[in-house]
Amino acid sequence: MPATGNPFTGAYAPVRDEVTVYDLPVTGTIPDDLNGRYLRNGPNPIDPGAPGRPHLFAGTAMVHAVRLRGGRAKWYRNRWIRSAAVAEALGERPRPGAAVRIGDVGPNTHVIGHADRTFALVEGGFRPYELSYEIETVGATDFGGTLPDGFAAHPKLDPATGELHAITWQRAGCDRLRHVVISPYGRVVRAADIPAPHMPVVHDMALTPRHVVVYDLSVTVDPVSDVARKPFPVMWNEARGARVGLLPRNGTEVRWFDVEPCFVFHTLNAYEDGHRVIIDVVRYPRMFIGSALNSPDSPTLDRWELDTLTGEAKETRLDDRPQEFPAVNPAVIGRAHRYGYSAVASALLRALGPADALDGSPPTASGDALIKHDVSQQSTVVRAFGDGHYTGEAAFVPTAEARAEDDGYLLVLVFDPGRGATDLVILSAEDFTGPPVATVHLPVRVPAGFHGSWIPDPV
Ligand SMILES: [Fe+2]
Repeated sequence: MPATGNPFTGAYAPVRDEVTVYDLPVTGTIPDDLNGRYLRNGPNPIDPGAPGRPHLFAGTAMVHAVRLRGGRAKWYRNRWIRSAAVAEALGERPRPGAAVRIGDVGPNTHVIGHADRTFALVEGGFRPYELSYEIETVGATDFGGTLPDGFAAHPKLDPATGELHAITWQRAGCDRLRHVVISPYGRVVRAADIPAPHMPVVHDMALTPRHVVVYDLSVTVDPVSDVARKPFPVMWNEARGARVGLLPRNGTEVRWFDVEPCFVFHTLNAYEDGHRVIIDVVRYPRMFIGSALNSPDSPTLDRWELDTLTGEAKETRLDDRPQEFPAVNPAVIGRAHRYGYSAVASALLRALGPADALDGSPPTASGDALIKHDVSQQSTVVRAFGDGHYTGEAAFVPTAEARAEDDGYLLVLVFDPGRGATDLVILSAEDFTGPPVATVHLPVRVPAGFHGSWIPDPV
């Protein structure tokens, strides 16, 4: 994708219709311990012909959902999230809390389950939107009046406490980050300021048993831009350097560790090893060069080791192949992991990086792929989907009786060019290159997008 062109073509071309289809055809056998919904969020411009320069991060949000129950694929739905602008475009009443705000396209980045509710998320000062089980928009939420400002795209659920941790930032007029914790019952129980007058852009964070890991990297809010000219007003700011902070979970003082200038969208995982804190991330040497979403470099899987005795950070490369959308078994978030999963998602990498990012030394023979990383053995396994089969982030779901870290399923959307529609592919994480456990054939194409979750049904 050229940096100045329209990103919403090809794999990102929006779909025009909201559909509801029941009892989907399936190849293979859906495991009977998968009872719940797979949801995925992403930009899907409701008015692709609108004036102005479209930006991949500024498309109105659409969520896609597949419900699995009792070994069957019960339904597929896709819905635009009714932000104020979307409700108006569709001729509908505004939803509660969906106030008109400049730049508010709706939360197009992630969708999660928490406190038996469903939330769509975006960063930069906007509130989450709550969705019903059938992914209709309930409205914007401030968690019962407890959320002071906006929320974040990538909160981390602590599997030990059930608390949801996030680092939030605001697009404008704000000189701080904020550590926000949401209780298992859906109330903000902590909102601690972190001074940041240079206004860093913070897409993700990490969690360990004792610390919140804060990314203060080389991308900051562009204070002179306006959203008409630059819908995602951020800029590469190498002069700021880059640093990674450890904030005690209940503390106020961040201990910072200098790292090489870079930007990180996504964390694979982090954990503590004695006096060291280990953080695995997908790292860009540069990002948001000039006025566009653009990196001249490909992202790689890297490791930061923060030594709390010496105050120094050691940086190493785990995998130099271009990749994104890192994921782990959610049971090991904040704890030492052996396995990680990432995507060689060509549409995203071409959108974020140089057009030839995949042409030099492609990690697979052809097309999109998933990579399974064994960081303890420093080995990887690649599963390719083939030419034209564009894919994205995989969601790891442990089996009901999981006995090993990779005893689970990977749920991932894969476009089938033969059908002109998308499949929900269920892989065995252990038998990573074996035949899919099941393939659910959706009735329509799902555009390439951002993040999703498996949300088990309440028990
Ligand atoms: Fe993200």
